[in-house]
Amino acid sequence: MPVPITLDVAARAPKGALGALAVRAGSLGDDAPGLDVALAELAGFTGKPGQTLVTALRGKTRLLVGVGDEPTPAALRKAGAAAARAARTVEVLALDALGAVPAKQAAEAAGALAEGLALGSYGFADYKEPAEDTRLERVVLVAADGDAKRAGAIAAAVEAAVRRGHAVGLARDLVNTPGGDLTPTAFAEVAEDLAAEHGLEIEVWDRDRIVTELCGGLAGVARGSAQEPRLVRLTHRPAGKRKPRARLALVGKGVTFDAGGLSIKTATGMEGMKTDMAGAAAVLAAMTLVPSVAPRLEVTAYLPLTDNMLGGDATRVGDVLRIRNGTSVEVLNTDAEGRLILADALSLAAEAEPDAIVDLATLTGACMVALGVRTAGLMGNDEDLVERVLRAGERAGEALWALPLPDHLRATLDSEIADLRNIGTGPYGGALLAGTFLREFVGDVAWAHLDIAGPASTGTAYDEHPKGATGFGVRTLARLLADWA
Ligand code: BES
Ligand code: MN
Ligand code: ZN
Repeated sequence: MPVPITLDVAARAPKGALGALAVRAGSLGDDAPGLDVALAELAGFTGKPGQTLVTALRGKTRLLVGVGDEPTPAALRKAGAAAARAARTVEVLALDALGAVPAKQAAEAAGALAEGLALGSYGFADYKEPAEDTRLERVVLVAADGDAKRAGAIAAAVEAAVRRGHAVGLARDLVNTPGGDLTPTAFAEVAEDLAAEHGLEIEVWDRDRIVTELCGGLAGVARGSAQEPRLVRLTHRPAGKRKPRARLALVGKGVTFDAGGLSIKTATGMEGMKTDMAGAAAVLAAMTLVPSVAPRLEVTAYLPLTDNMLGGDATRVGDVLRIRNGTSVEVLNTDAEGRLILADALSLAAEAEPDAIVDLATLTGACMVALGVRTAGLMGNDEDLVERVLRAGERAGEALWALPLPDHLRATLDSEIADLRNIGTGPYGGALLAGTFLREFVGDVAWAHLDIAGPASTGTAYDEHPKGATGFGVRTLARLLADWA
């Protein structure tokens, strides 16, 4: 179960709850009256964002949580997550934090804290017995402020944050699930359940349908697997006969396990490859938020789902695949499979002539070499759209960095026998080459591409993320859609 806690706002701490207090750096004594500041500092607690300290004052246990000099949304998210982790052995936590922020920012601050609490309390229902779970069931944000108007805004911000937290937890669960359990078929079934729950239209194509719909990239990658591929299309439409404010398409790479195909990966290179569907997971999770964050938009998601295996009839190196939009592609490396399945999905998305397409994909190791493991690469064919996505990422607290798609790269994808090759000719600029390849399939629709190979998962916990899947992209998409609406 993702994010087990319930979160609400109350004027005072419920009986029996562990009391927690937000503390600004440099204001230890003022923020936590009665605190022996020298002792706290001796214990290494200075109020840095996300620092915690358990204190006992006249027999009363308190958890102190640092929010830094200035309680920015990022600092508060971090503090919320740290509080949730520090309180995992109690059932009820009462967090008194809004005193540390200016009243004007109370709602925004409460949202950031709540998001941190929700994301920080996530635990994967793993395969261990007994499960390594948190006991935390309920968090109460103590809002001393009696102002009814502000209390309403605070409660709304908390509710929205919890909803986002659930969506991120859902994406993390999908990404953390092993590829042998989360097959393309299983993934599509999860999508069907979620579509029913959230009132989304859904269509699922099986292998035969994928072939008759001329999706040769997806069929070609799936050819090496005993598991059937799926293509899932989900749509949210505004209620009634209202004309949508805009029509958007989201596309997510859904490789449920990437062995590399015949261009097989090394043993260590293959280790994390159950996460190669993180783009599809983020898009699916974001779709569950559309009815609440952007009801007036029409949003369609395209999820090409397959694994990339080495069966006896797998796509051979040098084979030519025909993509949905008619482009032929010579496959010179079967491990560059993401772009092949995205080519079909982007073609389908472009056919519907939306106002914009945004895709998310764990596409290249090269992007991790360029930007490290916490920042996603952002590319596209439309400056305004790229700018919008950048802004959404910044507001959502996910790190994105714009990369160029220089025109000269296109020639390095020329093939002797087909329209395109699926890899370039040299070792450099792999992320940009992949982006250049994808651009061939969006026609003249505004398009942005997020390479999330780095930030989709993490080897060590940081900020609001535990070790493992991060659910990266869900919050940026939610922000982008909300801003658009
Ligand atoms: N799924 C990988 C990219 C990846 C690598 C994601 C590491 C997360 C962590 C992708 O399908 C892939 O194998 N890309 C190749 C492309 C190359 C063959 C042109 C790569 O990056 O090495
Ligand atoms: Mn690959
Ligand atoms: Zn891959």
